[in-house]
Amino acid sequence: MQVVKTVTEMRKLRRQLNEPVGFVPTMGYFHEGHLSLVRQARKENSTVVVSIFVNPTQFGPGEDFQDYPRDLERDLELLEREKVDIVFVPSEEEMYPSGFSSWIDVEGVTERLEGASRLEHFRGVITVCAKLFNIIQPTRAYFGQKDAQQAVVIKKMVADLSMNLEITVVSTIRESDGLAMSSRNTYLNPEERQAAIVLFRALSLARELWQGGEKDADKIRHEMTSLIQKEPLARIDYVSIADANTLEELKAINRPALASLAVRIGKTRLIDNVLLKGGK
Ligand code: PAJ
Repeated sequence: MQVVKTVTEMRKLRRQLNEPVGFVPTMGYFHEGHLSLVRQARKENSTVVVSIFVNPTQFGPGEDFQDYPRDLERDLELLEREKVDIVFVPSEEEMYPSGFSSWIDVEGVTERLEGASRLEHFRGVITVCAKLFNIIQPTRAYFGQKDAQQAVVIKKMVADLSMNLEITVVSTIRESDGLAMSSRNTYLNPEERQAAIVLFRALSLARELWQGGEKDADKIRHEMTSLIQKEPLARIDYVSIADANTLEELKAINRPALASLAVRIGKTRLIDNVLLKGGK
């Protein structure tokens, strides 16, 4: 496994890689969710590249950029075990040299849900992913369903700007009690960790109601909201039932839908979602 720190070195190496090249962009501090993306990339490609970069431009003022958990040594060991070929670990200077002033925006779909409460978050995500795609030139890139809106937005950018790669979305990996794995779960104290199950319980309720034939999105949002409000440590940021492709809020669930939510448990903001589609 090669650890590459500069764009120049990465480009040089890129020319010699066996195709297809699978790429997994991350901010590190790996859990089984990240590793499931890496494993799928390993299965489907001759070469696997993983990037680890805590991207400052996707964190708003007052968000957790400084505190975001980091453990490069452990991350590299885990990737070595997964037989990753190349790990791209650029510095902040390498990605954003002084004078950096170019940004990519995807309109519409970035303004809802996460975009509504985290201004400029997606501009940072999109721009860093576009840069990483340009540097690594992957055949395929792998994203988690856990960050459903991020996956939708990246797919939109790739389609709109005719970028030459395929985006694969991988199912959410959960703890045994249903809590979606997230690097931010490390912020939760034991009491909060217990309370955090309420996100999955609300999403499971949404799925049960929908499976039972409920099509009224307002009714489902209302039921989810009441359930979360019973948890004293939880504060709702949003509860949404939206079109799975455009992320526009639905009145009636008459097409593939995404039930998603953002909830603060103490100081930690957690997100999760389930798809309401197909025969399930
Ligand atoms: P990060 O939070 O490190 O996540 C990296 C990838 O892992 C994302 O595609 C995310 O959706 C996926 N992931 C996280 N938790 C998961 C889980 N429980 N199950 C399955 N997949 C999961 O997302 C980012 O980094 C950044 O925004 C990035 C795309 C790297 C741009 O900076």
